[in-house]
Amino acid sequence: MTVISILNHKGGTGKTTTTVNLGKALALQGKKVLIVDIDSQSNLSQHVGIESPTETVYDALCKNESLPVIDLGDNLHLVPANLELAGADDELRKNVNGYFRLRESLKAIQSNYDFILIDCPPSLEILTINALIASSEVIIPTQSQYFSIKGLQTIFELIEELKQNLNPTLKIKGILLTQVNNTVINKTIQETVHEGYGDLVFKTFIRQNVALTEASYSNQTIFDYQSKSQGAEDYFNLSKEILNG
Ligand SMILES: Nc1ncnc2c1ncn2[C@@H]1O[C@H](COP(=O)(O)OP(=O)(O)O)[C@@H](O)[C@H]1O
Ligand SMILES: [Mg+2]
Repeated sequence: MTVISILNHKGGTGKTTTTVNLGKALALQGKKVLIVDIDSQSNLSQHVGIESPTETVYDALCKNESLPVIDLGDNLHLVPANLELAGADDELRKNVNGYFRLRESLKAIQSNYDFILIDCPPSLEILTINALIASSEVIIPTQSQYFSIKGLQTIFELIEELKQNLNPTLKIKGILLTQVNNTVINKTIQETVHEGYGDLVFKTFIRQNVALTEASYSNQTIFDYQSKSQGAEDYFNLSKEILNG
C-alpha cells in the first residue's frame, strides 16, 4: 500500500487532474485505488460527479468519525470534501493531534487499497501537512512556467523539514511536468527543470490537452470521456512509470 500526496501550493498546476486520472489509470490496471479530496473547493469530488456529499473528510478530521468512502466503481473509491473543510484549519490547530488526523483516519481503511492518492489544497498549511504526514511519497505537478519553478524550492524545504521531524521516510516520487506545449519558453523551462532536478523529474510529462478540461466538466475521468486522447495516453504512461519503479 502506497500513500501519495499530490502537492503544489500553487493553484492550477494539475493536482486534481492528476489525482483523478492517475487514480483511474492505476485502477484500470487492477489496482485498488482511493482518491482523497482535502481541498475545500472540492474540485476532485466534483470532477467525479459527487456534488453534495452528506459525509465528508471534514467529519473524520474534525469530528473523529470514520472516513466516508464512496465507491465510484471499477476499483476506484473517493473520500469526498465540501466547503465545510474551509473551517478545518482552525479546528485542527486547536487539537494537539491536529497534524496527525488524516494519518490516523486512514489507518482503519488503508489495507483495502494498493494506492491512496491525496489531492492537496493550494497551500502548505495544516491540511497539506496532514497529507504529508500520512504519505510515503509525494508527486509534484508543475506547469512549465517560470513562477512554477521558483515555487519548487519552497516545497522541497517543507519536505526536508518533515523528514527531519515528523515523517522520516517521506520521499519525493517525482516532479510531473503538466500542460506541456511546444512553445520555446515552455521548452526552456522544461530543460531548466531537468537540469536542476535531474532524476527527480518523471520521464512522462503531461501534454496540454483540452480533453482533460472537457472531461472534468463532464464529471468523467479522461479514460471514460475520451480514451484515445493525448491526456489518456499521458496519464496511462505515468501510471506505468509509477508501477514499474
Ligand atoms: N494537461 C492539461 N491540459 C489542458 N488543461 C489542463 C491540463 N491539466 C489540467 N488542466 C486544466 O487546468 C485547470 C487546473 O487544473 P487542476 O488539475 O484543477 O489544477 P489544481 O488542482 O492544481 O488547481 C483545470 O481547468 C484543468 O482542467
Ligand atoms: Mg485542485
